[in-house]
Amino acid sequence: MTQIRASITGIQGYVPEYILTNAELETMVATNDEWIVSRTGIKERRILKGEGLGSSHMGAEAVKGLLAKTNTSPGEIDLLICATTTPDFVFPCTANLICDMVGIRNVGSFDIQAACSGFLYALTLGSQFIETGKYKKVIVVGSDKMSAIVDYTDRKTCILFGDGAGAVLLEPDTEGNGIIDSIIKSDGAGYPYLNQKAGGSRYPPTRETVDNRQHFVYQDGAQVFKFAVTNMADVAAEIMGRNGLTGDNVSWLVPHQANRRIIEATANRMGVGMEKVMVNIQKYGNTTAATIPLCLWDYESQLKKGDNLILAAFGGGFTWGSIYLKWGYQA
Ligand SMILES: CC(C)(COP(=O)(O)OP(=O)(O)OC[C@H]1O[C@@H](n2cnc3c(N)ncnc32)[C@H](O)[C@@H]1OP(=O)(O)O)[C@@H](O)C(=O)NCCC(=O)NCCS
Repeated sequence: MTQIRASITGIQGYVPEYILTNAELETMVATNDEWIVSRTGIKERRILKGEGLGSSHMGAEAVKGLLAKTNTSPGEIDLLICATTTPDFVFPCTANLICDMVGIRNVGSFDIQAACSGFLYALTLGSQFIETGKYKKVIVVGSDKMSAIVDYTDRKTCILFGDGAGAVLLEPDTEGNGIIDSIIKSDGAGYPYLNQKAGGSRYPPTRETVDNRQHFVYQDGAQVFKFAVTNMADVAAEIMGRNGLTGDNVSWLVPHQANRRIIEATANRMGVGMEKVMVNIQKYGNTTAATIPLCLWDYESQLKKGDNLILAAFGGGFTWGSIYLKWGYQA
């Protein structure tokens, strides 16, 4: 029997217009362009402005563009999964809202919360629905409005994050392209190092949680950096090893964009030259679940059918993982 694989057949990103530069951050906290660029590789990031606009707005814009680009009507979609850590509401989920905004009705849609590994988790999950043969068109979205939970008085975190979204269409492939292997991992013992303390069921919002700035991202940067470098490189090496890949036959590394130094360490460990690594952190910063689809969107014109891509991510939880896929089309 021919094996059905889930192949990405379209990609679309969306970033808000407003550009928050390092120069503007210098007016907000004690920092400077030289420190930010040398420590992180980030020059600017996008910020979603506008009353009442959340992650669903950016996700819906990406999905609308994806449907138009792939000549797909909303009625053809079988399932939509949204990875986000900044949902519009505790409920309903952001995927439900996106479907409503783009006219996708009466199909399953739900969110995945795995912080910066969210898109990789969602892609892993979405691909299974295609592989069973049951679903023909699945959309996977990554969308995060990090500016909603970033403390712009905390110089250690506010320089890192930005807003954005990306969406892919998954369809069956029987020619040997598509998602070939994936690994997802987590370790909840990472909770103290990267979290948003209040606003959930453990510490619901109170005047005190607001006064204590507990609704913002808390991060122990040095600890997170250490775990990220080790685990992202380990999991990428693991997926390469078990699929007989070396640095030479990997066409592209598509890493989560958290810090340019983490990306370089991962590429180095994999034996992949930086000319084969997708990097757009300088433009967008860390957009959490959107980094990987935004990379694929930016590099789409350079991708060839059959290219070997290794996706790798690391995030809060901790969560991490890697996907090996063969690219399915020429743009
Ligand atoms: C946050 C991060 C960039 C900080 O870089 P670092 O090299 O570890 O820097 P440190 O935290 O050790 O800080 C070094 C010094 O710079 C200072 N500093 C921190 N932020 C600064 C800023 N924005 N501007 C200027 N100086 C800053 C610190 O206060 C510290 O000063 P000190 O030595 O006088 O105390 C880095 O740890 C990182 O990228 N961590 C991982 C983040 C991540 O991946 N998060 C998302 C996971 S998906």
